[in-house]
Amino acid sequence: YKVTWDAVSAERGGYDHFMMKEIHEQPKAIRDTLTGRLDETAGQVKLPELKLSTQEINEIDRIHIVACGTSWHAGLVGKSMLEKMTRIPVEVDIASEYRYRDVLHTSNTLVIVISQSGETADTLAALRDCKKKGLRVLAITNVVGSSVAREADDVLITWAGPEIAVASTKAYTTQLIALCLLSIYFAQVKGLMSSDDAHDWVTQLANLPQLAEQVLDTAPQLEKFAADWVHAEDTFFIGRGLDFSVALEGSLKLKEISYIHAEAYAAGELKHGTLALITDGVPVIAIATQPHLYEKTLSNIKEVKARGAFVLGITWVGNQDLAHSVDEVIYLPQQCAELSPVLTVIPLQLLAYYAAVARGNDVDKPRNLAKSVTVE
Ligand code: G6P
Repeated sequence: YKVTWDAVSAERGGYDHFMMKEIHEQPKAIRDTLTGRLDETAGQVKLPELKLSTQEINEIDRIHIVACGTSWHAGLVGKSMLEKMTRIPVEVDIASEYRYRDVLHTSNTLVIVISQSGETADTLAALRDCKKKGLRVLAITNVVGSSVAREADDVLITWAGPEIAVASTKAYTTQLIALCLLSIYFAQVKGLMSSDDAHDWVTQLANLPQLAEQVLDTAPQLEKFAADWVHAEDTFFIGRGLDFSVALEGSLKLKEISYIHAEAYAAGELKHGTLALITDGVPVIAIATQPHLYEKTLSNIKEVKARGAFVLGITWVGNQDLAHSVDEVIYLPQQCAELSPVLTVIPLQLLAYYAAVARGNDVDKPRNLAKSVTVE
């Protein structure tokens, strides 16, 4: 018997890099973040850790989400979930911007800070500014006992477990879960969600880990795609609505670790400028997981195809139509529109990973980046 692993690779659970291990840990991370928070029989979300009273929740008239990097991208998806379910207007800000602009808040504004590490200087500083103004702050963080967790009024922990790779993966998906739980919880407290709808949400959430597991099977397809465009210099990620929010995260992942320049564009905005950059062979990742936006996104996909782009489409299984307009398709299990980002991001993480590996980069420690940025 020959031992083919050493202590370091054992720590990585047999994977070549922490990032790949963490991508594969997502089904478990999602399950752990849901544990104890779903009552499947009653069809209810329970967040006993929140100190916000029913009256306080009912009084919230604005929500400001403040975060950096990948956590900010999660906030963009959170805005959509919160507004749809709670009907409270939500703004999402980059922490280093929020601090220095003249923010309009009311005394009943709830500030939600999102931080994997709970130590990001910009986010922490924004939290402290808000507290000084007397605003109530709820933190979504992955680290129990972090500065953000200690200083916020309310804390929702994401149970992703330690994230070692600099590029965030499982923290993002669990942040989306936390934001969805919070949205449902607020909607229930405010009496805005029918019991049927609540049951439906709880069932969909409970099914997610298993669906995330299925999406991991797309890895070989993405490895092949990444190998084909290892020499690409520019890439575009396009989508509408929530697909645009995920496109931003996919584009960030690719830039962070493969160093291929990438830009995320709201699909309908391409024609207002960036279309000029789509030339023969330029890779475009076209995300089309939102049925109500599909036709519009499709016409944008046709625009880039007509200019010679090489298009990888991402859509739901059963949508055979997209294959006629793109070069390759990744199919995701069917999912309600709001939760689809949790699944859509997985192939984008895999794509960035394989592109970085193909280019011989240090996947877990990309140049010039830190896991936790503690300077402003
Ligand atoms: C750094 C990391 C990113 C992360 C961002 C925010 O820039 O490289 O991956 O998204 O900080 O980190 P936080 O811990 O606050 O979520």
